[in-house]
Amino acid sequence: MKEGKYGTVYLVGAGPGDPDLLTIKAQRLLRQCGALVYDSLVPQEILELVSNTCECQFVGKRRGHHSLPQSKINSVLYQLAQRHSSVIRLKGGDPFLFGRGAEEASYLVRHGVSVEIVPGVTAGIAVPAYFGIPLTHRLAGSSMTFVTGHEDIDKRRAGVNWKGLAKASDGLIIYMGLHNLAKITNELIAGGLDPLTPSVVIQQGTITGQRCLKAPLSDLAEEVIQNQFSSPSIIVIGRVVDFQVESCAPVPADVTMPILF
Ligand SMILES: C[S@@+](CC[C@H](N)C(=O)[O-])C[C@H]1O[C@@H](n2cnc3c(N)ncnc32)[C@H](O)[C@@H]1O
Repeated sequence: MKEGKYGTVYLVGAGPGDPDLLTIKAQRLLRQCGALVYDSLVPQEILELVSNTCECQFVGKRRGHHSLPQSKINSVLYQLAQRHSSVIRLKGGDPFLFGRGAEEASYLVRHGVSVEIVPGVTAGIAVPAYFGIPLTHRLAGSSMTFVTGHEDIDKRRAGVNWKGLAKASDGLIIYMGLHNLAKITNELIAGGLDPLTPSVVIQQGTITGQRCLKAPLSDLAEEVIQNQFSSPSIIVIGRVVDFQVESCAPVPADVTMPILF
């Protein structure tokens, strides 16, 4: 790299886990990159696509440890872009969906580094598909909402209005919702959603150990505890769950990812 020049940082979506769901563009860039920055929801099989000389940095969360603060990740990327012409910031699923991709992109662009987004297959779409669960169906409504369940529902100015969502959309795809599930389902029911609404939780979708649990909305949180479901899990709530076509579900890939907290 010439002094004062920066390489390009590619914000790449790794998909939900099954390496076959990686895009062709992501594979090509991984084989060519000089540096790789990745987090927890990326299986080893995808990381192995990079060359032996690639400078790799893990910045994610491991059991009992926090991930690097966002400001640190930003500066790691900035420093790597000073040394390498091609740097990949690899994120699970799609980098712009609940992935803080835009924060990293705008930091780098503000500092004069070129950034390119490489979309990935998001878990909210692929994971239900691995159980043959459609996200829309003409007979089950025509709107779906992607929402994070990560926010503290009790905080004064909660970002997600769960009571409002109960009626605003025909279905919900909830990321990071396990921890708050009891509160979320209570709020949805208080907002007018039928307690018998079909619901499903899918853990480790598309990879080894994937499993799913179906229950009426009112029982979902208790069932999740009884059956010891853990992160990463996607939750789908809505009548579409009843339109599952199990026989068309793909076989999950024989790969593992770390179970988070
Ligand atoms: C920080 S968000 C990142 C989402 C990611 N950017 C995407 O587009 O899929 C992480 C959450 O995605 C969901 N998730 C990611 N991979 C998953 C998988 N293989 N199975 C189930 N849920 C998954 C879980 O809700 C997890 O807590």
